[in-house]
Amino acid sequence: RLGSHLDRTVVLVGLMGAGKSCVGRRLAARLGLSFIDSDVEFETAAGCSISDYFAKHGEAAFRDGERKVIARLMEGTPCILATGGGAFIDPETRDRIKQSALSVWIRADLDLLVKRTSGRDHRPLLKTGDPREILSRLMEARYPIYAEADIIVDSTDEPPEVTVAKICQEL
Ligand code: S3P
Repeated sequence: RLGSHLDRTVVLVGLMGAGKSCVGRRLAARLGLSFIDSDVEFETAAGCSISDYFAKHGEAAFRDGERKVIARLMEGTPCILATGGGAFIDPETRDRIKQSALSVWIRADLDLLVKRTSGRDHRPLLKTGDPREILSRLMEARYPIYAEADIIVDSTDEPPEVTVAKICQEL
């Protein structure tokens, strides 16, 4: 079954802390594809961190930039693309992904998301209040939308290789 989809970019979606980047890097290595992280690409294009960008220009400007960065990345050769947690929530980006890529939602529960994001301060959305409350609200708002992904994989507190294997089974 592997191979039938590899003419398309595999886009990893899901909330902050789900493991998109960590799993994506390993998945790419396993499949012999290149790995791209849309957050990193955004920061390179913007010339500053996402945190600084949020502080200077606000979230709406970040979303505009993120949309453009992902549109450009989707035009490149097929790869494994990890996206920022809000990317698939943007209707235009979601349509683009649905049309030309294979989307994989890495689903995780609240405890795991809190654990995986705690002690890390590069996520502006989590700095505005209690991270658990914020993540819980984002879960409510976003999980119905992530559910539109082509493939859904549950990530429990397991080594990233296990999640990679689950994804490979579905490809
Ligand atoms: C965001 C998630 C972040 C980053 C930005 C906004 C979100 O990416 O794009 O801070 O809206 O969920 P990660 O999901 O890679 O942390």
